[in-house]
Amino acid sequence: MCGVVGYVGDRQAVPILVDGLRRLEYRGYDSAGVAIEGPTSARVVRARGKLAALEERLQTSPAPGTVGIGHTRWATHGKPSDENAHPHTAGGVSVVHNGIIENHLALRERLEAQGRTFESETDTEILAHLVDIEVQAGRDLATAVRAALTQVEGAYALACIAKDQPGVVVAAKLASPMVVGLGEGEQFLASDIPALLAHTREVIFMEDGELAVLTRQGVTLQTLAGELVERPPKTVPWTVQEAEKGGYEHFMLKEIHEQPRAVTDTLAGRFSLERAAVFLDEVTITPDQARAIRRIYVLACGTSWHAGLIGRLLIERFARIPTEVDLAHEFRYRDPIVDEETLVLGISQSGETADTLASLKEAKRRGARVVSIVNVMDASIARMSDDVVYTHAGIEIGVASTKAFTAQLAALALLALHLGRQLGHLDEAATRTQLKSLAVLPGLMQSVIEATDPQTLDLAKKYLKAKNFLFLGRGMNFPIALEGALKLKEISYVHAEGYAAGEMKHGPIALIDEHMPVVVVATQGSHYDKIMGNLQEAKARDGRIIAIGTEGDDRIADIADDVILLPDVDNAYQPLLTVLPLQLFAYHMARLLGTDVDQPRNLAKSVTVE
Ligand code: F6R
Repeated sequence: MCGVVGYVGDRQAVPILVDGLRRLEYRGYDSAGVAIEGPTSARVVRARGKLAALEERLQTSPAPGTVGIGHTRWATHGKPSDENAHPHTAGGVSVVHNGIIENHLALRERLEAQGRTFESETDTEILAHLVDIEVQAGRDLATAVRAALTQVEGAYALACIAKDQPGVVVAAKLASPMVVGLGEGEQFLASDIPALLAHTREVIFMEDGELAVLTRQGVTLQTLAGELVERPPKTVPWTVQEAEKGGYEHFMLKEIHEQPRAVTDTLAGRFSLERAAVFLDEVTITPDQARAIRRIYVLACGTSWHAGLIGRLLIERFARIPTEVDLAHEFRYRDPIVDEETLVLGISQSGETADTLASLKEAKRRGARVVSIVNVMDASIARMSDDVVYTHAGIEIGVASTKAFTAQLAALALLALHLGRQLGHLDEAATRTQLKSLAVLPGLMQSVIEATDPQTLDLAKKYLKAKNFLFLGRGMNFPIALEGALKLKEISYVHAEGYAAGEMKHGPIALIDEHMPVVVVATQGSHYDKIMGNLQEAKARDGRIIAIGTEGDDRIADIADDVILLPDVDNAYQPLLTVLPLQLFAYHMARLLGTDVDQPRNLAKSVTVE
């Protein structure tokens, strides 16, 4: 969702802001703009479409200056257009904003009654007017922003400049992310870390209800009430190289190939084979507290929810705690039964997904302990959780989540084994067996990626004209069927549905004919015979079958049109292998169809509004 950047220093602001916006492109956007402080007023340049359109406009109307703010907009209030693109200006004040002002209609009516006129349909323009009124009343910019925000309900990460107050950028945050980057004689602002990495790794993560005042000399933090806040900066572990494509055509392909490393790093230092022990020191649940857990709720959205569905099976198998998985946006509005005996597990790559964050807060309010699995350091979900297990997947930039997903599965396996050990459901020998299976996974993932990259390219060429796909799986591989279908639809725009294979007879089988390719995850394990039955049923109805099976299976090739064989591993860890060819298949389909693989239409990497 919208990206915000800001700069104050001695260098020209436009190249820094546009480069920052480019590094936030993965968040999703449909228009972009900058406001640069000029000698008499801010120079605002905006354009509908991609950053190239803004850059073209900046060629014909340059905006010189060393202080500015920028924005990529993902439309919520008002369609994508030049007028609705940020920054929005009122009087001498320019504002960029990520979030939603919920009482915008009432505020707009009030401001119109006061004689203020609006040029856009956005809720953000209201903020510009509110701040301008305060600045015109003689307040400094920080005081003006604070006064304006007391009138506002909703979520925001905003940045603001004012012509009468040169050399200052003021930022504020509530529920949407914002990071300040510290430099020498220059300061930076961004919605996310990748936009800062080319300049600094010293950052301050803004907290809800805080303002940051950026000048060449430094940054001060204050609360909405104006009290100063002291918080030392942190050094982020990511490098600017991680935010580059590193020779790959797309970030998504690079991230698919990084998965063995992402899983290795997520497991690293967290278990010992010799001692048959899991070390999840960040989870501070004592054995007594673990025994008191009556139920676990896993809450997440999208791909992270698919990880949660697998997490449930892992937790139930190893820790024997009843576990439910819910979409965060469903959970938060349905009066859930949650109390002190409930453990709530949030899963999020970005750590900023608005629904996941809100659902976890709601669960906490009702007394639950909140553990989260998060990829982005210090993200809002990590900060509000009682315990955080970080996945060490590194920056994920492709909008379609890949390496964060397999890293989440690795973290979930560790957590399930940890609880299982604490509760006495796993003895030393059983724990060691599981840890051995986990330890060899990165190597197996590497070989699967190498083998299936060319195989899935051939499959994509063969099935390129298909308009619909079905994905089927059972048990651990049912969520993988959902994930395979999601990957395909989100980046290639080809319609795909994922089903639990046992559900076929209850409806979806009616769809199957010679035009419907069916991707079946039919690896060895407890569900093998059952899924082979489903495969036969699809074949009998002329479905074209692409099967993901296990090496050594010589039955499957007799039924399926195309087969990809993977190494045999315990059911619990199969998803870390079976998802790989499905990610690659979606990637190759999208690439051959010519879609925007890393930034698919209408999608945002961090869904920071409801
Ligand atoms: C799909 C995808 C999304 C995210 C979802 C949750 O490829 O990336 O479905 O998984 O928006 O995002 P996080 O994990 O950041 O909470």
